[in-house]
Amino acid sequence: MFAVHLMAFYFTKLKEDQIKKVDRFLYHMRLSDETLLDIMARFQGEMERGLAKDTNPTASVKMLPTFVRAIPDGSENGEFLSLDLGGSKFRVLKVQVSEEGKQQVQMESQFYPTPNEIIRGNGSELFEYVADCLADFMQTKDLKNKKFPLGLTFSFPCRQTKLEEGVLISWTKKFKARGVQGTDVVSRLTNAMKKHEDMDVDILALVNDTVGTMMTCAYDDPYCEVGVIIGTGTNACYMEDMSNIDLVEGDEGRMCINTEWGAFGDDGSLEDIRTEFDRELDLGSLNPGKQLFEKMISGLYLGELVRIILLKMAKAGLLFGGEKSSALHTKGKIETRHVAAMEKYKEGLANTREILADLGLEPSEADCIAVQHVCTVVSFRSANLCAAALAAILTRLRENKKLARLRTTVGMDGTLYKIHPQYPKRLHKVVRKLVPNCDVRFLLSESGSTKGAAMVTAVASRVQAQRKRIDQVLALFQLTREQLVGVQGKMRAELEYGLKRQTHPLATVKMLPTYVCGMPDGTEKGKFLALDLGGTNFRVLLVKIRSGRRSVRMYNKIFAIPLEIMQGTGEELFDHIVQCIADFLDYMGLKGAQLPLGFTFSFPCRQTSIDKGTLVGWTKGFKATDCEGEDVVDMLREAIKRRNEFDLDIVAVVNDTVGTLMTCGYEDPNCEIGLIAGTGSNLCYMEEMRNIELVEGDEGKMCINTEWGGFGDNGCIDDIRTQYDTEVDEGSLNPGKQRYEKMTSGMYLGEIVRQILIDLTKQGLLFRGQISERLRTRGIFETKFLSQIESFSRILQETVKELAPRCDVAFVLSEDGSGKGAALITAVAKRFHPPCNEN
Ligand code: BG6
Ligand code: GLC
Ligand code: GLC
Repeated sequence: MFAVHLMAFYFTKLKEDQIKKVDRFLYHMRLSDETLLDIMARFQGEMERGLAKDTNPTASVKMLPTFVRAIPDGSENGEFLSLDLGGSKFRVLKVQVSEEGKQQVQMESQFYPTPNEIIRGNGSELFEYVADCLADFMQTKDLKNKKFPLGLTFSFPCRQTKLEEGVLISWTKKFKARGVQGTDVVSRLTNAMKKHEDMDVDILALVNDTVGTMMTCAYDDPYCEVGVIIGTGTNACYMEDMSNIDLVEGDEGRMCINTEWGAFGDDGSLEDIRTEFDRELDLGSLNPGKQLFEKMISGLYLGELVRIILLKMAKAGLLFGGEKSSALHTKGKIETRHVAAMEKYKEGLANTREILADLGLEPSEADCIAVQHVCTVVSFRSANLCAAALAAILTRLRENKKLARLRTTVGMDGTLYKIHPQYPKRLHKVVRKLVPNCDVRFLLSESGSTKGAAMVTAVASRVQAQRKRIDQVLALFQLTREQLVGVQGKMRAELEYGLKRQTHPLATVKMLPTYVCGMPDGTEKGKFLALDLGGTNFRVLLVKIRSGRRSVRMYNKIFAIPLEIMQGTGEELFDHIVQCIADFLDYMGLKGAQLPLGFTFSFPCRQTSIDKGTLVGWTKGFKATDCEGEDVVDMLREAIKRRNEFDLDIVAVVNDTVGTLMTCGYEDPNCEIGLIAGTGSNLCYMEEMRNIELVEGDEGKMCINTEWGGFGDNGCIDDIRTQYDTEVDEGSLNPGKQRYEKMTSGMYLGEIVRQILIDLTKQGLLFRGQISERLRTRGIFETKFLSQIESFSRILQETVKELAPRCDVAFVLSEDGSGKGAALITAVAKRFHPPCNEN
């Protein structure tokens, strides 16, 4: 009995002494809570620096955007290939993500070796090797001759600008293939795959292993928003608010950030906690000075740290009676799996003895206890350091969400975490101590990072397919040069039909003579009233023209025309117009003045002189009754009479295109075309009288109002009309009419966009398939939205140049609208009446 007690006492004492000895020797490796909190705060600062644009270039923790924006939502499906390169094992996989909403993932995989001569040889050979392994896998599994999307898990720091691209910043861990750093690994692998002609594989996503891990775990637990690897290397990713990511455009939602925390300390910020052992290990590594945090933590280095320490202790006579074996002198002889075995709860001590014996040492009981404790100190420090950085990430998440308490899940993976018997519980405990206001669940990724990579690829392939379908729809609107030349030819023919007496009655492009035969010459003068009806606004103007100096002064007022008047009776419409004139005269103090008036009336009118115009048919948003077939000048005169308050001398009625031509022609006598791209679309131009068969006389020129908006009303451009044009037409006031106008002008473009949006939504390609009430409302998408996105005038000018290469065209914007032109015509008409015909 006494002997047993004595033994126990002896053993406890022995243990205590050994532990004290080791603790003394490794004093610097034992980190207090205070130090851990300090490291946590430093890492918070590092994250800030990595995220901000100006500090990112010099930051050691790179905080790389991954272009992964959402965790899986269960709707992912399809068959994918996956590669997993950069951890302790290289795997090729086929992943089948469930159809029919059953959350199910099936995987088949195969490991391939990664010999040093490949991973540290020539870069191109590395990618060829990877492609060969993939080909072998596809061969074995009978997957060739079928198209597959592929997700590439590549566990090294890559700078990404999109999901399917990543430039390797630097190799880490065991890899050091030449000529890869600074290149896009996706295109490198794509190129290498070209050799295999029977392989049709499209790399859709490049993901870091941390990202894959997070996504794998998020598939099962939607709270998962952090991924941590404690394996060969160590790293973490987490979901960051877009508004905090300077390097990526946009503020909406979140994006996963690959922190690359392994590089923490590379700028010297951890020198106070690094020990002589860490420095020695670093010097002997493939990448000295780099990944200093990783080298204190991860599986590739822990065994080596232990070896360095044991050797030093032996040299100092603290172990093995001062004896050292040649194995103990050899780099890499102690591996992390040994450390894990030595720390095993029950067999640990026996394992230690065996491992030391294998190293050619003859350890005493005391040595074994001491070595075991060395392992504990080294692996405990690793867990502590990881915990500090992870606590910083959790705090950041909590603060981003402005929560007092955060409930979250961390997806975990990596051999050290998985095989070390004590590691997980130590890590969890320290994290919970450092962030008491976070409820953290640690979830081990059983299936590695590939399942997650497949989720990312699934989303990417869905987006790609959607993009394709959207492109197909939009392709209908992208007219080829050939199509445009076709339109040009047809338009040309229609213009001819309109001009010829024989074909005119059936022509869709009406080619209406305007009885305007020349440009203003600068001698015009006087005070005029002008009306401008038919565009977006109704305006009444007073125009004062002074001769000689080509100077014009204008005063105008805009009036609204309510919908019920635009679409009421003709009498109501013209009474309203006269009411507006009365208001304007009042406002200008001109009541009673008998002024000549020019009437810009932007609808097709058949004219027999400058002051007569019979409305052919309403267009755009007007549909007042009893006007079509009537002379609009007469209607205006009658309305003035009805009011019986003032008299006006209506001298000219002009189309807005003509008014515009005159406005610009006043400044530039070379101007001979007037074009309106507004609510409606139309053009006028100066035509040779001899070509205008509807008007007597062959001398000189007359302005023709083409009314080209009606082009296509005979079906001649149906080949370029889309289902959306048809829908817009059918919902309009004048179905079947003005087809060209409905494809070109402001009143309809927004509507076309709305029809496209509705269709894409119905197809499930937009807005999650939900058509909102507002989107159902006609006219809700205004054309001005389009012009905020696109510039039209540039496209118009460029296409004209392309299709009419022998015409040198200057485009001049009519700043003053067509009212000024109407007044100028009025001035001319007042002088010579009638203005065109000499007889
Ligand atoms: C695996 C993942 O489970 O863990 C890999 O599938 C990852 O993507 C690896 O790189 C990390 O652990 P280790 O220990 O293999 O480096
Ligand atoms: C290294 C790599 C990193 C990876 C980690 C874990 O730190 O740089 O990208 O996530 O190892 O494998
Ligand atoms: C409509 C009218 C036309 C007008 C054009 C521009 O096409 O029919 O007369 O010029 O719109 O406003």
